[in-house]
Formats: sequence, structure tokens, C-alpha cells
Amino acid sequence: MRDIRNIVVLTGAGISAESGLRTFRAEDGLWEDHPVEQVATPEGFRRDPDLVQRFYDERRAGVMAAEPNAAHRALGRLDAEFSGDLLIVTQNIDDLHERGGASRVLHMHGEALSVWCTSCDARHQWHATLRDGPPCPACGEPAMRPDIVWFGEMPYRMEEIFRAISQADLFVSIGTSGAVYPAAGFVQSARDHGARALELNLEASLGSRFFHETRLGKASELVPAWVGEVLG
Ligand code: OAD
Repeated sequence: MRDIRNIVVLTGAGISAESGLRTFRAEDGLWEDHPVEQVATPEGFRRDPDLVQRFYDERRAGVMAAEPNAAHRALGRLDAEFSGDLLIVTQNIDDLHERGGASRVLHMHGEALSVWCTSCDARHQWHATLRDGPPCPACGEPAMRPDIVWFGEMPYRMEEIFRAISQADLFVSIGTSGAVYPAAGFVQSARDHGARALELNLEASLGSRFFHETRLGKASELVPAWVGEVLG
């Protein structure tokens, strides 16, 4: 780990599981209760906006009630103390990386505490609900939706992500099942550019074979230990 100068970390729902936020694909996961096409597609939103707004109102409230765990805090320490380049790309919509002390964070699937006005294109920090159709603070139209990337939509800031991946000498995937592209393909891109690839997850992910090394266990234990190795 001593010669590492440039790290890209990819995180998924598993890193926030120990903060009490449900993952997606576990037996008690979010997609067990809510079919993806109902609550995470533009078509589902057109069909039943009220259901979708309620779903994300619940997610927003859950995020606000959650606290960062030892894994988020360890990445916060890495961000503060690692002098090389670092980008934490998260698929998570919670703000637990930021509250865990990290600032070099990119939310490729959007953010629970942000809303997007489909009338004037403004984005606003939002802590309340959307189910009652509040007016957009910028244009006054009741046209705000969650600022979440749904299936069939383009994840945010992909150019920036691929640029960072192409320069990384270490790619680390934490708490993600490897079921959703393009994030699931990052490990292969990183390796194509010569990076070493490490996976930290509770169980082997779908793409485990693409990693040089997989460590199985809880993020709250594996991540602090790995950060300790990097920082020496
Ligand atoms: P998943 O629910 O698919 O996978 C979570 C992963 O975390 C699994 O591999 C678990 O084994 C692992 N895990 C669970 N608890 C853990 C713990 N305490 N420590 C370490 N690992 C743990 O969630 P994601 O891979 O994040 O997208 O899902 C990717 C995307 O699919 C999400 O961003 C979301 C979803 O559809 C959108 O909504 C756009």
C-alpha cells in the first residue's frame, strides 16, 4: 500500500447497512417490498407519482435519522490524511460519507436530500416531503421530483469518474453487489488501466472474480483496517 498515489473508492448500500439503512437486494432489502420498475423508473413516476414521492420521502427521512458508522468515518480519515489523489464514488443517496468527514465524494446516483424541478431545472437542498407537491422555490411550479438517477437515466458525472479511474493505481469496491451497471463495470476499466483492484464486502459480489483480492466481512471492520494499511 505504500506506493499508492491515486485511489478510487466505489461504495454501495452495504457501507451504510450498519447505519440502519436497508440495502436493495438482500432478502429484507428495499426491492423486496417495492418493485424497482414501480419506484425507480421514469415510467413508474409517470404512472403513480404519489407512490414514488412517498417512497423517497421515506428514504429522505431515513437518511436524516441515520448516523455514519466506522466505515464512513474511516474513509473520512483517509480523505483527511491521504496526500495522494482520492475520489470516493458512491452509488448511495445518503450523505453519510460527508457526515463521516469525507469531502472528495461524488454521488453518481443522486442524493436523497436534493430535489430537482422538472419545470425550471433548478436543484434545491430539501429536508421536507414532496408528496404534497410543494412549489419550487425558484419558479413556483409544483414540479419537483427526487434528484435520484432512476433506471433508464444516465448516472451523474460519468466523464469525471472514468477520468479518475483511468489514473487510479488502486480501485477499491466497498459494500456493493455488482448488479448495477455502469458501476459494476468500473473494476474492469480500472484494471484495463493497470490499477490493482480490492473488494471489501460482506459476501462475494457478482463481479468478485475481477478483483485481485476480496476481503469478506463487515464494512465497519474491514474499511478501518484497510485505511490503516494505506496510511501506515
Ligand atoms: P445491493 O443491495 O445490491 O448490494 C449491497 C451489498 O452490500 C451486498 O453485496 C451485501 O453483501 C453487502 N453488504 C451488506 N451489509 C454489509 C456490511 N455490513 N458490510 C459490507 N458489505 C455489506 O446495493 P448496491 O450494490 O449499492 O440504484 O446497489 C446498487 C444500486 O442498485 C443502488 O445504487 C440502487 C439500486 O438499484 C438506484 O436506485 C439507481
